[in-house]
Amino acid sequence: MARIGADEIRTRVRGDWPRVLGLLKDKIALKSVSAQGITGEHMRRSARFVADQLSLVGIDARLVQSTNPDGTPGAFEVVGSRVVDAKAPTVLLYAHHDVQPVPDPAVWETDPFVGTERDGRLYGRGAADDGGGIAIHSGALKALGDDLGVNVKVFIEGEEEMGSPSFIPFIEAHREEFESDVIVVADSGNWSSDIPSLTTSLRGNTDLDVTVKVLEHPVHSGQFGGPVLDANTLAAMLIASMYDGNGELAVPGIESDQPVGGLQRDLDPGQFRADAGAVDSYRLAGTGSLASRLWTKPAASVIGFDAHPVEGSFNVVADRARFRISLRTAPSQDPAQAQQALADFLAAHAPLGAEVSFEYGENGRGWAMDPDSLAVRDAQDAMREAFGTDPVNKGEGGSIPFIPELKRLFPSAQVLVTGPEDPQSNAHSPNESISLYGLERNIVAEVLLLDRLGAGSR
Ligand code: BES
Ligand code: MN
Repeated sequence: MARIGADEIRTRVRGDWPRVLGLLKDKIALKSVSAQGITGEHMRRSARFVADQLSLVGIDARLVQSTNPDGTPGAFEVVGSRVVDAKAPTVLLYAHHDVQPVPDPAVWETDPFVGTERDGRLYGRGAADDGGGIAIHSGALKALGDDLGVNVKVFIEGEEEMGSPSFIPFIEAHREEFESDVIVVADSGNWSSDIPSLTTSLRGNTDLDVTVKVLEHPVHSGQFGGPVLDANTLAAMLIASMYDGNGELAVPGIESDQPVGGLQRDLDPGQFRADAGAVDSYRLAGTGSLASRLWTKPAASVIGFDAHPVEGSFNVVADRARFRISLRTAPSQDPAQAQQALADFLAAHAPLGAEVSFEYGENGRGWAMDPDSLAVRDAQDAMREAFGTDPVNKGEGGSIPFIPELKRLFPSAQVLVTGPEDPQSNAHSPNESISLYGLERNIVAEVLLLDRLGAGSR
């Protein structure tokens, strides 16, 4: 059977545009912040909304509350399916309906929970991450309608931003609802709003809490300061010991990879600086391609630091300090191994013999695409046709830890990581947005991909 032409698909997607935009705006208004309680009523409402939206595009969808590994009630997940032909391949479409919190709405230029169009972008929390993923799947299913040539399963998760604590028990309890030939994870993004990408790798992620103790109690900084360094200074010395003179993380046992499938194009440092909002005088840390530094080399960030606030501080030497390191690991390294290497290194570098102790946080594995899989070729062809330009492969510095878990449970499934984001999207940050040009083409690309995947069986 002839495949549907790209022009016909574009026409269908444009005709459906008001619905897609409305879906995204309604989704933003739901404030699905999982950090405010995965099991909260707001998350149930969010899942209900997504299930209803999927029903509108032909998916038999329902809301299911997962169960945490400790037996307590977990996230509100949305699962659905549409079977067209038992002999056709099955594609699992993934996105997540939870969003990051908005700690300070005042630094947004628009109301974070009112989807607002400006200069070809739609602003709002979750406009891209990952309302955009839901919009892509919904738009693609609607455009295909009865031309759908693959069986579709849908999973829209309710706790991705919290590290997916109940994901494994959920899949194990619903195996048949995940069983598929190809999995499309629409939770990453493109090189830019007009250049499409498959995501070739994701870094792993682990946390380590470190306590530095120097005294049994705080003491007068005039009486004891000098011979006794305060715990904050000792913590700073310890943190600095992780880096070499180039500002590169240099901890034995924490590994690096090369860009998966080869580096097609390096990131532009000027653009990268602008996207990050780096101050002019700052020199970027590390060595090697900028892409490898972001995608396949490790990175450590101190994401929390317990110390006395400046306001109200007084002349004492701090007895202890505590900080949390978030470590992004190379795609191929077991994050637990990197976490242990970091702890061993810090224990061995305790400045002046201060006591250093650890609490070990959660680990999420990284992932690398198989560049030779057939689905990868289909996806790249679909993207080329939809965007009218060659896709550029890119890695991602962020993590989607359930992907390697899916791979472990369904080893024969081919995973494609796509998504609505671009470098201007500001996921997790103020003024998050999605490119509407990019969204339209992402939908067209997913239609073309599903059509290609189904073509062989018709
Ligand atoms: N969508 C992101 C991952 C991502 C970020 C992909 C940027 C592409 C570009 C995802 O929602 C996310 O933020 N994941 C968390 C995982 C963590 C909670 C284990 C992350 O990377 O911090
Ligand atoms: Mn996401």
